[in-house]
Order: sequence, then structure tokens, then C-alpha cells
Amino acid sequence: MSGLWCVVPAAGRGRRFGGDVPKQYLQLAGKPLLLQTLERLAVHPRIAGLMLVIAADDASWAHGLIEVLGKPLLRTSGGAERADSVLAGLRALPASVAPDHAVLVHDAARPCVRVADISRLIDEAVPVGGGLLAAPLRDTLKRADAQGRVAATEPRESRWRALTPQLFPRGALEAALADAAAAGVAITDEAMAMERAGHAPLLVEGSEDNIKVTTPADLVLAEFLLARAS
Ligand code: CTP
Ligand code: MG
Repeated sequence: MSGLWCVVPAAGRGRRFGGDVPKQYLQLAGKPLLLQTLERLAVHPRIAGLMLVIAADDASWAHGLIEVLGKPLLRTSGGAERADSVLAGLRALPASVAPDHAVLVHDAARPCVRVADISRLIDEAVPVGGGLLAAPLRDTLKRADAQGRVAATEPRESRWRALTPQLFPRGALEAALADAAAAGVAITDEAMAMERAGHAPLLVEGSEDNIKVTTPADLVLAEFLLARAS
């Protein structure tokens, strides 16, 4: 199998993180967080190219960058929600990426993804039509009532946290995301769009340190994790 392209949504504003500069441009272990993520992906031998999706009014991106570690880097503008950005990225992929060819989607905000996890996702999800990295829930899960008190304890068994990368055939994912958008359904990850289209994505257990940088505390943790990994 030839190499896979990876769509990297990075068009968010980082509202939960706060601050003037979107979190993907903050320094993480000496480089912008976004560049750390792009290098993590580009270093993978089975990733052929990167499609970066940034906000149309983005002022922080180094527009001259056309490759990362020797892999081509293309760029397009994102949309209001993450799913809109991913769909824009899929549509902007080179024509050489055939509809039945698997593509990866990976959050810019996850700089700690492990090369070995990406390999396992590709190995396991390509033969079954798609899947995602995920981690089984470890904590006890509570349902809250309107007063912030426990209404119920939910079963933890069979519950997973969806991570990225997620891997699906380009054409099927594009169609599933477009269909959900047309129906006005809010989609929070690629697997959800595929589920809605009748597919059953494979859960591939990934390392829990593939964190999404959401708050300032996560940035500190990511710095620690990156320093340890290198
Ligand atoms: N993203 C995107 N387009 C959007 C919203 C999000 O490309 N309209 C990207 C983010 O840049 C991030 C990834 O999707 O890399 C995961 O989203 P999240 O962690 O929620 O980032 P933000 O949306 O930027 O943060 P927040 O929800 O706190 O505003
Ligand atoms: Mg968001």
C-alpha cells in the first residue's frame, strides 16, 4: 500500500485554553505546538503528505512552509466547526488520493501521538474499512443533575474515549461528513459521521498519553510527555 495522507484540523480558536493566540501556536518544547504535531506525523514512514486546515483569518501560520521533514504540506481554510474543517481538508486533498484510499485525520492539538500507535491504527483499521485510536474509560463515570449532584453512576464497561488519528476511506468519509452537515447534525469526530452512515469503526486501543491540549495544564503535561519521549 502506498503512503497515506493525513488531514490536520488546526482552525480552532482554543476558547477553553484562553489567551489571544490560539493554542496551536503556543511554544511547546521549543517549537509551536502545531509544528510538533506536524513533525510527529511527517516522521511516520507510512504518511505521504499532510493537509493542514487553518482558519481563513489566521495570522499566526508560517505561510511559506511547503514541506515538513521532506513530506509535502498542503494547506486549506477551515470552517466554523471541527467537522467543517475536516471536510474542507478532505476536499482539498490531491486528486491522486482515490476515493477508496484510506486517509488519516489527526487533531493539531494532539502533539504527543506515538508513531507505534499510528502504525497499529493503519495495520488494523485499513483491512476493516476504518477505525480510530481510542482509550478505555478508567474512571468511574457519574451523570450529573442540574444542581451538580450525582444523579447516577454510569457503567464504565464498554466505554471508550475517542482519540485521533482516525482512519477512513477518503470518499466514504467525505460523503458521511457532507451528509451530516446537510442534515444539520453536529458531528464531533469522524467515527461519529461514519456511524451515522451505517459503519462500525474499529476501536484500536491507543496510548493514554496522546492527550488533546485543551487547557494550560495540558500544555505543561504535553511538554513533559514530549521531553520524556525524545
Ligand atoms: N478545529 C478546527 N476547526 C474548528 C474547530 C476546531 O480545525 N472550527 C481543530 C482545532 O484547531 C484542534 C482540533 O480541531 O486542533 C480539536 O479541537 P479542540 O481541541 O476543541 O480545539 P479548539 O476548538 O481550538 O478549542 P476550544 O474548543 O476550546 O475552542
Ligand atoms: Mg473545539
